[in-house]
Amino acid sequence: MITPILMLGAGRMGGAMLDGWLAAGAFAPADLMIRDPAPGPSALAAQAAGATLNPPEPELARARTVVLAVKPQLWREAAAEAEPHLAPDAVVVSIAAGVKSADISQAFGGRAVARVMPTTAAAIGQGTASLFADDADALARASALFAPLGVVTPLADEGLMHAATAVSGSAPAYLYAFIEALEAAGITAGLAPQDARQLARSTLTGAAALLARTGEEPTELRRQVTSPGGTTEAALNVLLGPKGLQVLMREAVAAAVRRSKELGS
Ligand SMILES: NC(=O)c1ccc[n+]([C@@H]2O[C@H](COP(=O)([O-])OP(=O)(O)OC[C@H]3O[C@@H](n4cnc5c(N)ncnc54)[C@H](OP(=O)(O)O)[C@@H]3O)[C@@H](O)[C@H]2O)c1
Repeated sequence: MITPILMLGAGRMGGAMLDGWLAAGAFAPADLMIRDPAPGPSALAAQAAGATLNPPEPELARARTVVLAVKPQLWREAAAEAEPHLAPDAVVVSIAAGVKSADISQAFGGRAVARVMPTTAAAIGQGTASLFADDADALARASALFAPLGVVTPLADEGLMHAATAVSGSAPAYLYAFIEALEAAGITAGLAPQDARQLARSTLTGAAALLARTGEEPTELRRQVTSPGGTTEAALNVLLGPKGLQVLMREAVAAAVRRSKELGS
């Protein structure tokens, strides 16, 4: 049994999970308990649908699965508050970036732990979740929590969570930054701001949808829209040049990996 589920912290990411579960009908709202001192819109919507918000402490013993979804800086505090009230066989699923399973398990009285690096598109069932657990039951629970929210990728080694954080957890922001930069460049090239916004946004979301729908390799899709000697090729000579995206992306991912390791130490 995976439910009842207790969510510790329901901000941006925990809230996205709640939105996704409610939209997919993944769990009965009555099986969701949320603990958050400052509940946001998603926690309040879940409460309106029948979830329990900030239940009295003895109620926490009903939870079979506990989702740790507070900021990494606050996880010890959230764990210390909840742990004494939990059932001995409750399983913890943590989405805190960088924080190791062994440390979480210790703070939760030796309970089994799975780690997940999710993305906020979970809110619309298009999330991506990287999973790791030593314990088979904890891995199965994490999988059951995230399968209704999109794609699930189990990792063979906990150390790979740093790379998954850099390539997936943090990556939606890379795309948003890319779109911002394209819009700004469009304005510099003379487009009216509202035209630059619309062109950049709808072109890139359309291109991403085509990638998802066709299952083609990005290299092949790129080739299909790049004529020799044409405008796209002229731009790609800059983007893929010696100081271009490949180099920048390697540096960006390495910086995220470094920060993930710092947060976990
Ligand atoms: N956002 C993302 O895209 C994303 C992606 C992947 C993973 N994550 C991970 O998800 C976790 C949460 O990130 P977030 O962006 O969702 O943070 P957030 O928006 O700050 O949400 C955390 C929530 O937990 C509440 N909280 C603080 N202390 C608590 C306690 N002791 N007990 C219960 N709730 C408490 C916070 O309330 P206050 O606001 O009052 O402090 C806040 O509402 C992080 O560990 C992060 O690494 C986030």
